Amino acid sequence: MIHTNSVNTNKAIDRKTPPTIIVIFGASGDLTARKLVPAIFNLSKDELLPKRCFLVGYGRSEMTDENFKHDIKNALNNHSRRNIEDSIWNNLKDKLFFHAGAYDDLNSFVQLEKKISNIEEKIDCRAQCLFYISTPPGVFMPILENLGESGLARRHRGTETASKVIIEKPFGRDLQSAQELNEVINRRFDESQVFRIDHYLGKETVQSLLVQRFANSIFEPVWNRNYVSNVQITVSEDLGVGSRGGYYDKSGALRDMIQNHVMQLLALTAMEPPSSLDPESIRDEKVKALKALKPLVLEGDSPDVIRARYAAGLVDGVPAKAYLDEDGIPEDSVTETYSALRLYLDNWRWKGVPFYIRSGKRLAMKASEIVVQFTRPPAILFGQDSRLKVSPNLLVIRIQPDEGVTLYLNSKTPGLETKLQPIKLAFGYETTFGSNTPEAYERLILDSLNGDGTLFIRGDEAETSWGLLTPVLDFWSDQKRDGLESYASGTWGPLEADKLLIDGGHEWITGRKYD
Ligand code: BG6
Repeated sequence: MIHTNSVNTNKAIDRKTPPTIIVIFGASGDLTARKLVPAIFNLSKDELLPKRCFLVGYGRSEMTDENFKHDIKNALNNHSRRNIEDSIWNNLKDKLFFHAGAYDDLNSFVQLEKKISNIEEKIDCRAQCLFYISTPPGVFMPILENLGESGLARRHRGTETASKVIIEKPFGRDLQSAQELNEVINRRFDESQVFRIDHYLGKETVQSLLVQRFANSIFEPVWNRNYVSNVQITVSEDLGVGSRGGYYDKSGALRDMIQNHVMQLLALTAMEPPSSLDPESIRDEKVKALKALKPLVLEGDSPDVIRARYAAGLVDGVPAKAYLDEDGIPEDSVTETYSALRLYLDNWRWKGVPFYIRSGKRLAMKASEIVVQFTRPPAILFGQDSRLKVSPNLLVIRIQPDEGVTLYLNSKTPGLETKLQPIKLAFGYETTFGSNTPEAYERLILDSLNGDGTLFIRGDEAETSWGLLTPVLDFWSDQKRDGLESYASGTWGPLEADKLLIDGGHEWITGRKYD
């Protein structure tokens, strides 16, 4: 498969970003150390950040600037995809500051404003502020309100140095809380200043999905109910909840993965071609696809939704404990670590085509992929002879790991007898482009600095996705333990999830099946 530049790479890199002050709320958190700091420094190494770029860490505990610099250096040593040379570090370390403050204390934000103004005075010009909210979701609201109340949200509005805000996931925990967040955002910011992040959209392979769909003429004619029998989206992880039990138990697979990452993959797979590559055209089409999803059937003989949690088992031969035995999980927990759904879009393109989606922790392997299964050829030639197995064609788009695209076709095996075998036309990112691709967060931070919202979620998009899934959460909360299935760690999830596909005569497929 031919790869072109990702959708808007050139736009992002060509633009000249003004002097910038990045403020990270939740500066001592895990995400900051593992992803945000390495992303910012790798952008700097590639000279994609403005020369005058400052980083202010905002956190609740007191810390000196020196200690903050020390933590940042450690984070880089442990998590950066590339070495940070001394020359780069020496240049950057004087641009790092720490600001201690509570998230619900307006005065701390007023002090932050003073710190920002001091930096501007020192460099003798205006700077744009990028506020990155990477805290637990419970304090998103006070931070947004205080950014508004302190005047930080309106700083330089209407100019190229207008403030911007990135909001980490989860964006709300149901439809109502997402609406409440959007209400504060709309009151305090212009939508053009707001970047609701879903790091899946920054993954190279996810960006490439649009290119593969719309820069190749061979897919569009068959990308519909006439030729596609079903679409499967799997986002599986072999890890358990680890040290995040406290957060995860209040969240679960539907909120943590399906509502955002998996629904985004679905929207990009199902959407109509946008009329242009500008952010609003693309996001409009994604919202339309999400709005076309039919309400889910929750009860009866064949419900559309399955939930389960992991029991003990073996992952890659290593014993793994049950979810209920993980740290921080209450013994009466009814949180799901796995969920699978059968969805239909009520539109011309996809009417009647099931989209099966699933995500879970402690599954057989880490694999995120989209499988488009095409209809079988008519049983006229080879299909008539039951000894000749004609497999349906599959297009497997592997988001991670082993990023790539594989098309499975039927071919004749060599020999005097006519025997059919599925063969692969495969493209691997690493083989074609090498392994050192930028991390999702690099791309997303750069785009937000440039004001490009294409790879971020719009407010109505988040609400549409919650609108579909909130009835499921309400139903589960009424059911308590009923219907919560179990699966052994290291397997592909509960057997009940296979039943979702049986009505349609389908079965779960993973890309490795033919490897
Ligand atoms: C996060 C979830 O959004 O995505 C985590 O909160 C999950 O629970 C992670 O492990 C998976 O991300 P990735 O990029 O490793 O697939």
